[in-house]
Amino acid sequence: MKIGVDYYPEHWDRSLWTSDADLMQKTGVKLVRMGEFAWCRFEPIENEFHFEWMDEIIEIFAKRGIDVVLCTPTNCPPLWLCEKYPDIIPTGRDGRKNDAYIRGHRCMNNPHFLEYAKRIIEKMAKHYAKNPAVVAWQIDNELEANFCFCENCTDSFRGWLKEKYTTPANMNKAHGNNVWSGEYSAWTQIRPPFGNNPHAWLNPAFMLDFNRYASDSTVKYLRVQTDIIRKNCPDTKITTNTWFCQNMPDFYKEFSGLDFVAYDNYPTTKIPEDTEECYSHSFHLDLMRGIKRRNFWIMEELSGGLGSWSPMSRTTAPGMLEGYSLQALAHGADTVIHFRWRTAVSGAEMHWHGLIDHSNVPGRRFEEFAHLCKTAEALDFINDTQIRSEVAIIYAPENEWAFKLQPQTEGMFYFEQIRLLHDAFSKYGLNVDIIGPDADISGYKIVAAPQMYVTDENTVKRLYEFAEKGGTVILTNRSGVKDTHNNCIMSQLPTVYRKLVGAYVEEYDPIGRDMIPVQFADGENFSCREWCDILHTESAEAIAYYDGDFFKGKPAVTVNHYGSGRAYYIGTVGQKAFYRHLVRDILTECGLPFVETLPDNVELTERMGDGYKVRFIFNDTDREQSFSIGEEELSLKPFEMKIDRQNV
Ligand code: GLA
Ligand code: ZN
Repeated sequence: MKIGVDYYPEHWDRSLWTSDADLMQKTGVKLVRMGEFAWCRFEPIENEFHFEWMDEIIEIFAKRGIDVVLCTPTNCPPLWLCEKYPDIIPTGRDGRKNDAYIRGHRCMNNPHFLEYAKRIIEKMAKHYAKNPAVVAWQIDNELEANFCFCENCTDSFRGWLKEKYTTPANMNKAHGNNVWSGEYSAWTQIRPPFGNNPHAWLNPAFMLDFNRYASDSTVKYLRVQTDIIRKNCPDTKITTNTWFCQNMPDFYKEFSGLDFVAYDNYPTTKIPEDTEECYSHSFHLDLMRGIKRRNFWIMEELSGGLGSWSPMSRTTAPGMLEGYSLQALAHGADTVIHFRWRTAVSGAEMHWHGLIDHSNVPGRRFEEFAHLCKTAEALDFINDTQIRSEVAIIYAPENEWAFKLQPQTEGMFYFEQIRLLHDAFSKYGLNVDIIGPDADISGYKIVAAPQMYVTDENTVKRLYEFAEKGGTVILTNRSGVKDTHNNCIMSQLPTVYRKLVGAYVEEYDPIGRDMIPVQFADGENFSCREWCDILHTESAEAIAYYDGDFFKGKPAVTVNHYGSGRAYYIGTVGQKAFYRHLVRDILTECGLPFVETLPDNVELTERMGDGYKVRFIFNDTDREQSFSIGEEELSLKPFEMKIDRQNV
């Protein structure tokens, strides 16, 4: 495992460079990431390039055995470029140019911006191609789907639609534009969804295409950059750092042309009191690993209290900084780079805390970081180990976009049931992969596919095949609702999944924040909320029933034998205990071994090596936890990670 830091040489007086690098070397830092916001230092005047300062700092690090991740600086075009071509600034939904040059002030489709971006990337790529210290490239920074509404983006959206539908008539049919006289007779009538009306007032089919386009547009921009670097530095790995943001691109497409996934990991510094909250970042980490179903990197890792974008948060409690990094390792992160070496003394982020405070006096958090570096050095046997999971949960970006466009009922959001199922499987100590809708599922025992709302025929087919061959599928409410265009399917829910589920939805009730009792056939009682599918079983058997309201006695959860496998259908939404109860039964039915004695938020994962496995037990709480696993008695301090190696 390698530990690194994010470093901004352009923020610090040169006199600090050497002392910083010395301390990094002494501490055990193996790599630094630099350059993602430094365009105005690389090209302070148009066409006048200065890489000598970056060369100097890279050399300082290289001499100390510290590798470099170099970034393309395209997130922040220099202000001389903005002055020369004001059209490079993105346009907001209100049709006005964003007026503040904060950062991210560039339209990814703007020809002027692209011309200058390509030039500087090419210069950098050529300049650093032969520098062995540069081991990887990061493209731009935290790319979101392209929600720019400028003229270039309008053109590019029209082009995207034209390529997909060829004629406006085809698009009218696909989008159902006969409603509200919304039929287009020419592409020029198309405009991105301007205005402050809620998105839900616009045609959902059109809006889903806009989301697809916005994601593709970002991926295209990423490719432009990747191609230049690939051509000039064919042996250097390329990635970008992603995160969970408002306008998320399709992660699977985003990383398809890149060498590995990198994630910015900022778990909470305050453990919530509400025990129903699924706060663990194991969920994010499993999703990141699932993008390529390979190990990944953390490009930015929590180092202290957060600030700047909001009032300051609690600082990292003792054990948290090291614990969260090792938690990332336990879920497949082989490299963890901490954001950032030292807290900035100027600029908007001066209260977003790094490893060293403004004083430049290394303190408690730095000591913990130094300890982490020593811990990591002793974990060589983990290199080359991989996570293997029997359980997968499907996350489909199109469902996320479609649910954001049309929230279904109060309190319901797409990630909720995915997280609750992830929590339930994790509670029993199983490795869980969160995978994309196109991933190969044949190797799993259990595949949960919650809320398969927008239908993709290929995914449907693969889920049937998976059950047919003996797999266990878990489906839920709001599946098979929409066709591929985001129009409703005229058939009884769950439409395309009805045969697999062996039941249909007679009627549904979006109960929002109301609670209704639900009872399992074994007599266990829970409450359900948000959504109630009133089910009618065909070949399926009911395993839980509503115990209230006008549908009292009607099935809420069913199981169906299909081929040599099974399909569960959860017609409602429960709380943690509801899913844990059901998942326990499912695991027992599937004959998968599991651990029942883990306290809440104590996480057990395994990585497999050649002839051995590494076991990770992490206490993701702020309390000491004592428990047993079989004969073994364990006690873990807050955020403590226990790692051991066992031959298999
Ligand atoms: C993100 C960005 C960083 C920095 C941190 C902290 O992860 O990538 O540049 O802004 O947040 O705010
Ligand atoms: Zn634009």
